[in-house]
Amino acid sequence: MAALSGRDLLSLADLNSQEVEQLLQMATQLKSRQLELRCNKVLGLLFSKASTRTRVSFSVAMYQLGGQVIDLNPHVTQVSRGEPVQDTARVLDRYLDILAIRTFAQEELEIFANYAKIPVINALTDLEHPCQVLADLLTIQENFGSLAKLTLSYVGDGNNVANSLLLGCALVGMNIRIATPKGFEPNAAIIAKAQALADDRTQILITGDPEIATKGANILYTDVWASMGQEAQASDRMPIFQPYQINEHLLSLADPEAIVLHCLPAHRGEEITDDVIEGSHSRVWDQAENRMHVQKALLASILGAE
Ligand code: CP
Ligand code: NVA
Repeated sequence: MAALSGRDLLSLADLNSQEVEQLLQMATQLKSRQLELRCNKVLGLLFSKASTRTRVSFSVAMYQLGGQVIDLNPHVTQVSRGEPVQDTARVLDRYLDILAIRTFAQEELEIFANYAKIPVINALTDLEHPCQVLADLLTIQENFGSLAKLTLSYVGDGNNVANSLLLGCALVGMNIRIATPKGFEPNAAIIAKAQALADDRTQILITGDPEIATKGANILYTDVWASMGQEAQASDRMPIFQPYQINEHLLSLADPEAIVLHCLPAHRGEEITDDVIEGSHSRVWDQAENRMHVQKALLASILGAE
């Protein structure tokens, strides 16, 4: 069993390769019900952005472990009236066993983690989406049997999901190629961190050319062109990102057995066509389901469920 007792997960780089491997193994066993774990703990969900998958998958995972969940929507707490993060963190620390936070700035998450002694999980920030990428790796492992040396091609915006994919691929020995328009590359510090984490199994390519990124790839991945908080830029981004759409042409350049992933929600006709997301290569529904299994493994490991 993975031993993440009491740990925070603020970035995917908070885990090492062995811990990722153990979490995926534990998630696989929980999914097949070879493993049943219980813990009588309370999870708080403090989400400043919308969420369907993350909110529901964390909640169901915690209920299935025998725990409880409190939805701490900022609009029904004093957070929306300006109570400082430092104060909220120290108070929630006294009530809860673990806290999952979805917010804008990674720095805010880090302040929470500094002021709260309980474990804090990144449920998405502008910088990273580590729980998503753990589920993505589980989905890829289920499809290909193993992870090392596969090539993932991410085409689109160099956003939070792209950043966590860089770290995730480096940790498991996968190649990653990211194609974005100029000026929309992933975070430079994350690229450097992924390069530092990578061993000789992983090659990292950041390019402006979606065809180069996609050629022969085993996994084709995309996400929205404007993330939460960037809605005002959405229409300006549309023509810039058009050549980065995952469509039948791009898919035809990938390996014939390639799978297509999208963290969802998807904007059909923008970053991905309806044909491709509904087509035989798409694994997006398994990918969404796997959020629940991997987060159950994560909660169980951090909380010491038995
Ligand atoms: N993929 C993902 O995090 O979805 P939600 O925004 O619905 O949680
Ligand atoms: N990049 C997207 C992911 C949503 C799950 C966003 O941050 O809005």
